[in-house]
Amino acid sequence: MPITFLEDKKIFKLDTSSSTTILKIWDEGYLLCLYYGAKIPDTSFDGYEFRDWASSFSPRNEVIGENAFSPDTAPLEYSGFGTGDFRKTAAAIRNADGNDATDFRYVSHTVSPGVKKPAGMPGLWTVNESDAETLDILLRDRTTGAEVTLHYTVFADHPAVVRFVTLKNASDKPLDIEKLYSASVQLTTMDFDFVHLYGRWGAERNMARSPIEHGHTSISSTRGSSSHYHNPFAALVRHGATEDTGEVYGFNLVYSGSFDITADADYYETVRLNMGINPDGFLWHLEPGETFDTPEAVLVFSEEGLGGMSRAFHRLYLEHLIRGKYRTEKRPLLINSWEAAFFDFDTDKLVSFAERAREIGIDMLVMDDGWFGRRNNDTCSLGDWWVNEDKLPGGLGVLIDRVNALGLKFGIWYEPEMISPDSDLFRAHPDWCLHVPNRPNSIARHQYVIDMSRADVRENIWAQIDAVLSKYKIDYVKWDFNRNLSEAGSALLSAPHGEEIFHRFVLGTYEIMGRLTETYPDLLLENCSGGGGRFDPGMLYFSPQIWASDNTDALERIAIQFGTSLCYPASAMGAHVSMSRRTGFETKGNVAMWGTFGYELDPNRLTEKDLEIVKGQVTEYHKYYELIHYGDLYRVIDPWDDAYRAAWEFVSPDKREALYTEVVLRYRHCPTHFVRFKGLDPEKTYTLEGTDQKYSGALLMKAGLNLSRYPAGCGASFKLHFVAD
Ligand code: GLA
Repeated sequence: MPITFLEDKKIFKLDTSSSTTILKIWDEGYLLCLYYGAKIPDTSFDGYEFRDWASSFSPRNEVIGENAFSPDTAPLEYSGFGTGDFRKTAAAIRNADGNDATDFRYVSHTVSPGVKKPAGMPGLWTVNESDAETLDILLRDRTTGAEVTLHYTVFADHPAVVRFVTLKNASDKPLDIEKLYSASVQLTTMDFDFVHLYGRWGAERNMARSPIEHGHTSISSTRGSSSHYHNPFAALVRHGATEDTGEVYGFNLVYSGSFDITADADYYETVRLNMGINPDGFLWHLEPGETFDTPEAVLVFSEEGLGGMSRAFHRLYLEHLIRGKYRTEKRPLLINSWEAAFFDFDTDKLVSFAERAREIGIDMLVMDDGWFGRRNNDTCSLGDWWVNEDKLPGGLGVLIDRVNALGLKFGIWYEPEMISPDSDLFRAHPDWCLHVPNRPNSIARHQYVIDMSRADVRENIWAQIDAVLSKYKIDYVKWDFNRNLSEAGSALLSAPHGEEIFHRFVLGTYEIMGRLTETYPDLLLENCSGGGGRFDPGMLYFSPQIWASDNTDALERIAIQFGTSLCYPASAMGAHVSMSRRTGFETKGNVAMWGTFGYELDPNRLTEKDLEIVKGQVTEYHKYYELIHYGDLYRVIDPWDDAYRAAWEFVSPDKREALYTEVVLRYRHCPTHFVRFKGLDPEKTYTLEGTDQKYSGALLMKAGLNLSRYPAGCGASFKLHFVAD
C-alpha cells in the first residue's frame, strides 16, 4: 500500500512508484516533514529523528521546553502565520477577534482508497480505487477552532503525490482566509535551481533556470487566469542535474486563475515551497461550519533529470487528468478558418475550404471568430451568440449541412467569459460585466469580462451556447479567453465577500465548462486564450487539447513547444501548419506534428507542390498518431542550448518504435553531427525506415549516428523512424 502509518513512531510514509515522503507527528502535535525525495524502502526509522537548532531569536514552544523546538526552524508541513514561523507560511487566517495568529496541530487522520477532489474544481481521477490511496490529516488551531485537512493522494504506479487542503471554520464566529496554499513542501537543502516557464503573447512558456538564493524565488499571476507570463509550473532541480540525470522535483497547480509558487530559502539553508491561489487579491469569508477547498497541487519526483520529470507529468496527465472520449479516441484532423480568413468569410468561402480539405484528407472544418452577432471585426458582439445571417445566409444549419455533406465534421468558436460594450447583451445588462462602482472599466481588445461568479449570467450564456449545440451537429468547440481581469467586482458580491471574486470567477468558468462537457460528451473541446494564455492542468481537465500559441511560425514554435513539453503532453498542445513564410511546408508539418496537428490556412492557396506535401503529412499524421499521442517524449537537442539545431524523439511505451525529428535553426557546415538517441531498448535491433540499416539500441544510444548527410540548410528538417525487429 502506498501509505503506511507507523503508530509507535508517529510516522506517515507515502510511497509513490519512485519517491518517498516521511511525515512525523512531533511533540505537541506539530506535523513535520522529515523527508521528501527518492524512494526509500525502509519500514523502520529507528534513529531517524528530527533535531531542532533554533537560534536564540526564534520564539519557542514553552510546553516542549526552552531550546527544544521553534516553529521558525522546524520543517513544518503546514504552518500558520503569526505564531513564531517567520518564513513564508502556508496559511493566514483573520479571526473574528481581528488577529491573524494561527497554529495548526495534529488531531487525527484517515486513509482511504482512491482519490479525493476539491469541491467545484478539477482534479486527478482514477477508475480503479487501487491506483491510488488518499491520506487525510486533520489539524486544528486550538485557539480559534479553525481546522485544516491536508489531503494527499499517493499514486502507486506514478511518481506523483496530489495534494489539496480543506479549511473548515469549526469555531462559532466568522473568519476570513487571507491565504491558504494547496501544498507547502519542505526540503532539507537549498542546493537547487529554480526552473519555471515565463513568456508573453506569441512567445509562451520559455524555460528559465537560476540558482535558489537566500530569500524568496517566486512566480505568480494576479491576472485572474494562469496567463501567458508565468505558467503554474515550477521545478526544483538539484545543482548539476541535467535533461537526463539528477534529481528534479516538479510542481504544477491544477488551477486556471491567479496563482503563486514561492520557494523560500531560510537561514539554515533549507527550502520551503508554497504553491496555490495567489494571496494577492484573495480574501475568503467563512461563516461557522463552512468549508473552503484549495485547488490541487501535483508533485512529481524524478531521478532522471528534467526529461524524467516531463515524462512523469505526461503519463500522469494522460492516465489521470485528461478525460472524455478524446482521451483515448483518435481526434479528428482539423482545419481552422482563423489565419485563413480572419473575420472575412461567408458560407461559400467556408465550404470552399471544406471542399479542398476533403481532397487533402482533413476530417473537420472549424469556423473561428466572426460568425455571431454583428461581428466583422473584434470591436463588438461578444455575448450575442446568435448567428450572423449576413455572412451565413440561412443560418448555421445550411453551412453545417454543406460541410457534413462533404464528409467533414464541423467545429465552432466561442468566447463565453467576455462581453463587448457594443453588444445587445451589454445594452440589456450593463451590470453583467465585472466592474466596481464609480470606477471606469478598463478595456482590452474592445471587451469587458463577463461576471462568471453570477449564476444568472452563467445561465444566460449557457442557454445561448446550448441553443446552438443542441440544434446543430457540432463536433468541436474552441473556447477562447482574450483578456485579463481588472476592476474585478460583481454587482452581487459585497463585503465581506467582495474580494472572493477572482476565485469565484474561476469556479464559475469551471462550472459552465463542466456543464458543457457533461451535456455534450462527444464534443471535442479545445481551450485557447489569445494563444496559450491559459495552458494549465485545470483547463486540461475539461479540454484534452489547448491551443499553444498564436505564433504559428515553425521555428519560433519549437521554443514554445520545448517549454510547454516540460509539463504537458504532446496530445495537449494545439499546433497547426499555417502560411507563415520562414520555412517550407515540410518543416511546418514536422513541427506541428509534435502537437495535435492541424491546418490554419486557406487550402485553396496551396501550390500544387505544397498540396502534395500536405497530403503526405496527412498520411504521416495517421501513421505516427499513436506514437506521438501516447509515446514517451525525449528532448534531444534543446534550442536554448544549441543555436544550430533542435531535436526531439518519441518512443513507444513498448520501445519497439521511435521517431526522431530534427530542425536546423542555423546552417553550420560540419561533417560530424553525432546524435545519441534516447529511451530505446539496448537489447533490441532497430531498422531505420527507408534503408536496410539495422542498429542495436545500445549503439544508437551510446555511439549515436552521424547525421551530417541529412538536410542542413537553415529551416530544413527531417525525421528518422526506427522500428525494432
Ligand atoms: C485569439 C485566438 C486565435 C483566434 C482569435 C479570434 O487570439 O488565440 O486563435 O481564435 O482569438 O479572435
